[in-house]
Amino acid sequence: MNNAPIGVFDSGVGGLTVVKEILDQLPQEKIIYFGDTARVPYGNKSADTVTRYSGQIIRFLLSKGAKTIVIACNTASAVALEEVKKEFDVPMLGVVKPGAKAAAEATKNGKIGVIATEATIRSEIYSKFLKKTDPQVTVYAKACPLFVPLVEEGWTNNDPITEQVVARYLSELCEKDIDALVLGCTHYPLLREMIQRAVGERVTLVNPAVETARELKYLLEENHLMSTQTVSGGRESDAPVQHEFYVSDGAEKFLQFAASILPEAVLRPENIRVETFE
Ligand code: DGL
Repeated sequence: MNNAPIGVFDSGVGGLTVVKEILDQLPQEKIIYFGDTARVPYGNKSADTVTRYSGQIIRFLLSKGAKTIVIACNTASAVALEEVKKEFDVPMLGVVKPGAKAAAEATKNGKIGVIATEATIRSEIYSKFLKKTDPQVTVYAKACPLFVPLVEEGWTNNDPITEQVVARYLSELCEKDIDALVLGCTHYPLLREMIQRAVGERVTLVNPAVETARELKYLLEENHLMSTQTVSGGRESDAPVQHEFYVSDGAEKFLQFAASILPEAVLRPENIRVETFE
């Protein structure tokens, strides 16, 4: 079981920002990624729908032998994680709790901004976790529903339209004297530079993916599930880790994205009819 893969999923390409951190911190682990590119975005869908989609995807990842599941989507972590945890007997991790922990550590003045999809903001989950960690903090939340389609369209690298949209969404947060801002959607780190420009250098941007990869390591250790595979420089008999990618639509576009986000070559993703995993 130790050398079984880690199942990671998101509504689309955003979860690759989490994969990037996992590869960085746990290079010996094999990853099976599913991007629900046919049904993105999740951020404007109901909790019931996102929970049903998440269940189908987890069933698919388990059918591929996943030893643990990382929900690399804030929206699904916010509205579906607790429900799916009841259904599946496998160690599972979302990105919201690690993100809130990192933000609580990052702030000095106790004023924290959170940007995320409408569903994540509506759930108030970041506020709840942050207040639990430190009841003194003030949380300013803002939904930025246009960010995901802009990222999925690939308008990330200092695109002037995206720059304007970013500035417009973030202008009210800029007036709140925040010193930490949670990128509460896995797509948003791809807009990092533009977001940093909009809020100014004194605001620390918190990418929950970094803390999620750290928590994943603890989860694997706790469950005695760390891979025994060695990476480069290891025994000759150890084959290089070959990650697998699956999508529900648009494999070609996904491949281009993955190549621009991940440090290593990615195999062409396979199209899966995930709705059959009911
Ligand atoms: N990337 C996902 C998140 O972190 C979902 C974006 C969406 O599908 O709306 O929330």
